[in-house]
Amino acid sequence: MKDITKHYYTKMNHKNENISLIGGNGVIDINKFYSWEEISKHNKSSDGWIVLTIDNISCVFDVTKWIPEHPGGPDVLIKHLGIDATSNFEAIGHPEFVYKKILPKYFKGYLKV
Ligand code: HEM
Repeated sequence: MKDITKHYYTKMNHKNENISLIGGNGVIDINKFYSWEEISKHNKSSDGWIVLTIDNISCVFDVTKWIPEHPGGPDVLIKHLGIDATSNFEAIGHPEFVYKKILPKYFKGYLKV
């Protein structure tokens, strides 16, 4: 259990108001939900999003700034832009600190279903 949702709540409330899913009125901001139609357009290294399903919640990450830093190399990340990368991401066995420390920095919102 990665409990990433709780982590984002903490992050959002204390540091990253601009990525908060909760508006000032305490209501979930529907503008932070993205359709596949929208996500699939962000498939370039100059503008790249990735979807990872974590604890059954499909999260959208804008990884544009992370591409050159990825320890597994930029190419493998670029291959997964604009799509759901969950199975390949998990197959590598990315360690816990990736979920806790790195992914929250690039969190954009949730998949609109
Ligand atoms: C989307 C966000 C991603 C983040 C934040 C991320 C982050 C990281 C980090 C921090 C490491 C180093 C892990 C360590 O030091 O133990 C790593 C390694 C790696 N990642 Fe990712 N990664 C992402 C996506 C992906 C995807 C989609 C793939 C596709 C297969 C991938 C493949 C790899 C590979 C091959 C390695 C190297 C493993 C090794 O050398 O042992 N990553 N990644």
